[in-house]
Amino acid sequence: MGGRILVVAETQSTNDDLRGLAESGWPEGRWLRAERQTGGRGRLGRPWLAAPGNLFASTLVVLGPDDPPATDLALVGGVAAHEALVRSMPDAPIRLKWPNDLLAADGAKLAGILLERVARGVIVGIGINVAGAPDLPDRDAAALRTLPGGAGIDAARVMDALADRFAAWLPRWRADGLEPVRAAWLAAGHCPGERLEARLPDGETVRGGFAGLGPRGELIVGLDDGGSRVIHAGDVGLVRG
Ligand code: BTN
Repeated sequence: MGGRILVVAETQSTNDDLRGLAESGWPEGRWLRAERQTGGRGRLGRPWLAAPGNLFASTLVVLGPDDPPATDLALVGGVAAHEALVRSMPDAPIRLKWPNDLLAADGAKLAGILLERVARGVIVGIGINVAGAPDLPDRDAAALRTLPGGAGIDAARVMDALADRFAAWLPRWRADGLEPVRAAWLAAGHCPGERLEARLPDGETVRGGFAGLGPRGELIVGLDDGGSRVIHAGDVGLVRG
C-alpha cells in the first residue's frame, strides 16, 4: 500500500472505510479516494449525494498528546480545501461558510467536510462537486466545472492539490496552533455583517450578522439587539436580503 493517495473505483463511504483502516495502521498523510461513492454521509446525519466525476476522499489525522484541540481540524480542513480550490482555479470566486463548507459566489454549495473521531485521531472526509452538482432538497449546489476556469478540472487534480494543502496546514497547526488557520479562514469566509441563520442542535435558530470567529473557531453572530451569540455547533445558512 504505497503512495500518498489510494484510489478505489467504488465504495460506500470513504469515511467508513477509513474507520476500519485506521485500526489496522493507516498512516497520517495518506488519502483514500473513491471514484464513486454509493452511501456517502454528510454532516448532521444527512446523506452526501454523489454525481459521477466528483471527489470523495478521506484521510486520518493521528492525534498526539501535544496536539492542539481536535475540534480545530474543522477549520484546518476548510482552509486547506479552500486553498486547494483557489490554487486549482484562480479565477473562480470560492469562499468558506462556517465552519467548512465551500461555496460559489452565489452561495451554492461546492464542497463539504465530515470529521469523525476514532481511537487514533480524527477522520477528515471531504466531498467536492467537481463535475456535477447533485440535486439537493434544501439548498443549491454547484460544480467546479461550471465556474470560471473550471472547464478542464478533474477529481484527480483536485485531490493532488488538496493533499498538498492539507499536508502544508497540518504541521503549521501543530506548530503554531489555530491562530494562523483562523486568520486564513477569516480572509476566505464571511464578510463582516453578512446575514446568517444558525440552527443549533437543540432546535433554536439564531439570526444575525457575522461578527467574527472566537479563539477556537467558534462562530460569533451579532444580534439585532446589539448583543452577540457564540455558536459552537450548528447548521448555518446565508440569509438573502
Ligand atoms: C457535509 O455535509 O457538508 C459533509 C460532506 C462530506 C462528504 C464526504 S465524501 C467523502 C467522505 N465520505 C463520506 O461518507 N463523507 C465524506
